[in-house]
Amino acid sequence: MFVILLVLVAAASFADERPIQLKDGPGKDLVAGRCTVCHSLDYIQMNSFFLDRQGWEGEVKKMVKAFGAPIQPDEMSRIVDYLVKNYGKKPVRPVSTPK
Ligand code: HEC
Repeated sequence: MFVILLVLVAAASFADERPIQLKDGPGKDLVAGRCTVCHSLDYIQMNSFFLDRQGWEGEVKKMVKAFGAPIQPDEMSRIVDYLVKNYGKKPVRPVSTPK
């Protein structure tokens, strides 16, 4: 997994030199401020395809617990809310539901 991530990051940075811009919304500045201390925002975009609320919550907790991200407990839910809303995996709709 680690190797795959590195390859993806390398590929992404060759393909597009512009820094990632986060989508606008409440919490954007907080996420941009807290999550760029150690790595670029590519990680958020890359993982938006498979992380749902539970996934993002776990991810943010891991950043704090395992890597020591400077995130206050009261910022946690705002960060997760932003990530789920803007970069969460879209729930799979039942096939029969009309648009
Ligand atoms: C204290 C440093 C630090 C901060 C701050 C930080 N991260 Fe990370 N993050 C890491 C490290 C270290 C890795 C894994 C190593 C790597 O692949 O570079 C990582 C990897 C990731 C990954 C890739 C998947 C994974 O688990 O390896 C995602 C997604 C991610 N971070 C999201 C975030 C988000 C969202 C924030 C802000 C809430 C954040 N990070 C803040 C250190 C940090």
